[in-house]
Amino acid sequence: MSENDKIYIFDTTLRDGEQSPGASMNMQEKFRLAQQLVKLRVDVIEAGFPVASRGDFDCVKNIADHIKGVQIAGLARCNVKDIDTAWEALKNGDNPRIHTFLATSDIHLKYKLKMSRDQVLDLAVASVKHAASYTPNVEFSAEDASRSDLDFVCKVFGAVIDAGAKVLNYPDTTGYALPDEFGEHIRYLMNNIPNIEKAMLSVHCHNDLGLAVANSLAAVNNGARQVECTINGLGERAGNTAMEELVMAIRTRADRMNVHTDIATEHIHPSSRLVTIITGMPVQPNKAIVGANAFAHESGIHQDGMLKERTTYEIMNPCDIGLTKGNLVLGKHSGRHALKDRIVTMGYSLSEEDLSRVFERFKELADVKKEMFDEDLEAILMDVVLRIPEEYELMTLGVMSGSKVMPAAAVRLKIDNKEVEKAAIGIGPIDATFRAIADLTKTSSKLLYFAVSSITGGTDAQGEVMVRIEGDGKIVIGQGSDPDIITAAAKAYLNGLNRLVYLKKEQSKAGK
Ligand code: KIV
Ligand code: ZN
Repeated sequence: MSENDKIYIFDTTLRDGEQSPGASMNMQEKFRLAQQLVKLRVDVIEAGFPVASRGDFDCVKNIADHIKGVQIAGLARCNVKDIDTAWEALKNGDNPRIHTFLATSDIHLKYKLKMSRDQVLDLAVASVKHAASYTPNVEFSAEDASRSDLDFVCKVFGAVIDAGAKVLNYPDTTGYALPDEFGEHIRYLMNNIPNIEKAMLSVHCHNDLGLAVANSLAAVNNGARQVECTINGLGERAGNTAMEELVMAIRTRADRMNVHTDIATEHIHPSSRLVTIITGMPVQPNKAIVGANAFAHESGIHQDGMLKERTTYEIMNPCDIGLTKGNLVLGKHSGRHALKDRIVTMGYSLSEEDLSRVFERFKELADVKKEMFDEDLEAILMDVVLRIPEEYELMTLGVMSGSKVMPAAAVRLKIDNKEVEKAAIGIGPIDATFRAIADLTKTSSKLLYFAVSSITGGTDAQGEVMVRIEGDGKIVIGQGSDPDIITAAAKAYLNGLNRLVYLKKEQSKAGK
């Protein structure tokens, strides 16, 4: 396949993805995710919207300064301050991209911008020229393009190409388009923008009608060569095009698509898990590619077919997305070297210090759990790799519960290097545990969400708990895993409280 058959993957998990309600990420988490996106071999990472806040600016700058070998983009509205701020954050990156946008639909012009079409055209051209004075790598997006007059979009795109834009993005901002219609729009743009050969056409689809991936594929079939997408389909409202679905559709149906991406698909599953853990937003079990059931075969007829020949019911090989589910890893007698080998095979590289932490946790778990799977190891890895300073540390937990007993919990924490203990009763053992923790930490956060799932099969499986809590007007997630689900819940709750403390410290450092 030629270079013209390559589909550029522009990942916006850190920008549009972060606009998912409740999906905010701290600087360390964004950096970790950006490292993962490099492993996935995306072409562009949209790291954030630098003018939005000091925190956003710092995150984009940190990524542009330190993550190399990939283009880093920053979003900017069409005004001088946004573009200057974006450049300030991006300027040390490898081939940094300013992504500037302005709406083109009459609805947006009339009600939001209160501008005429001529004014929009002039502002788009002036902004692209300003961005191009910093870098040749400028992308222009026509917000709400799919509900705009197509000839007007052609006019704007033609003019911004002359002003220096190298990528023209056609977003279905409201997720309104249908696949055949969206494909026709892209064909129309390809045929009616006279200087289109000087730029690349891109699409950015939202999933309000569940059509983001289908619309993106239709666009590719009609000439788009960049697709903007997010891991797990995160994003504003119903989300964006899910990268894993788009990439695997292109790969699995190469016979009809005749294009390719450079994505290292074996990193898809670990990347999806990382995003779930960082954002606290689990994917639904029946989600294509990365859902827990995506490769599970339940009916007897299917299982029989699978035993005879995998391809009877599987169109993709789970290994191709890095799914090592059910892989029995090591046991309690395994050494540090074997553990390190396994971690490298799973696509992680750790410092010696982090490896020691993982090894210690691995041994502790292997002592109580007979069989250790990759998923168990992954849960430990996530904890260690994403750890934040622990203001509150769980030392011990004892609970009493059952039918016809008043649930009670005794919790011992380490706070400021001092051990403190408290007992509490509650409606259930988790309620009692959380009450004791709230008392000891003198916090009064509100629990917004609580979910428990099992990391692997078997009654000795580790429980994984996700919580979302609100405190001091901030919402954070917390995550914990343990073979004992009440302990996992306590760890998740404390992880959330530690994140609140961390966030407060980060914000006061940034002078907010
Ligand atoms: O959905 C949208 O239109 C966007 C643009 C800023 C590209 O996110
Ligand atoms: Zn969007």
